[in-house]
Amino acid sequence: MTVRAIFDRASVRQFTDDAVSDRQVEGMLRAAMAAPSACNQQPWEFYVVRDRETLERLAKATPYAAPTGRAACCIVPCMRTSGLTAPECAQQDMGACVENLLLAAADLGLGACWQAVYPSRDRVDNVRAALGAPDGLDPFCLVAVGVPATDPIPSGVKRYDESRVHRVG
Ligand SMILES: Cc1cc2nc3c(=O)[nH]c(=O)nc-3n(C[C@H](O)[C@H](O)[C@H](O)COP(=O)(O)O)c2cc1C
Repeated sequence: MTVRAIFDRASVRQFTDDAVSDRQVEGMLRAAMAAPSACNQQPWEFYVVRDRETLERLAKATPYAAPTGRAACCIVPCMRTSGLTAPECAQQDMGACVENLLLAAADLGLGACWQAVYPSRDRVDNVRAALGAPDGLDPFCLVAVGVPATDPIPSGVKRYDESRVHRVG
């Protein structure tokens, strides 16, 4: 994977019925777990959901999660809430790991969409119940993954804005 994947990535919310293979899922999870984290604490764990009924339940667990109901697979990165060396940094760690996951999906030719869960307690509890996840493991977001129904149209490359850059020296 190169920096190209950064500019090729776009949120994908419509998918074909094609499956996402175990190998593809492993590729995305390897990328996610390669992320940097504070003190290398790696606060993440992941649920991989393919069961249609659970996907539909997840899609209703948060207000903007319809893409999960249309996807072949949903990866749910979850954050440990105890036993961390730098708990105040855990959310940043999770953000880094989710971005790696999205980039790996794009690199594999898959489409993916990040859907917010954490820190809304309602959403965290709804998703936890749908997964049967234990206390102490907070679902951080939903990542719907599938084969894109149409070619993604990336727009990130156009977001460069010189006025947001402040140079010192
Ligand atoms: C923290 C976060 C929460 C998001 N939540 C949702 C969501 O709940 N539903 C959704 O369809 N997209 C969600 N997105 C995707 C954004 O809408 C999308 O990244 C943004 O519009 C930029 O488009 P792009 O990803 O194609 O570059 C979320 C993205 C982030 C980073």
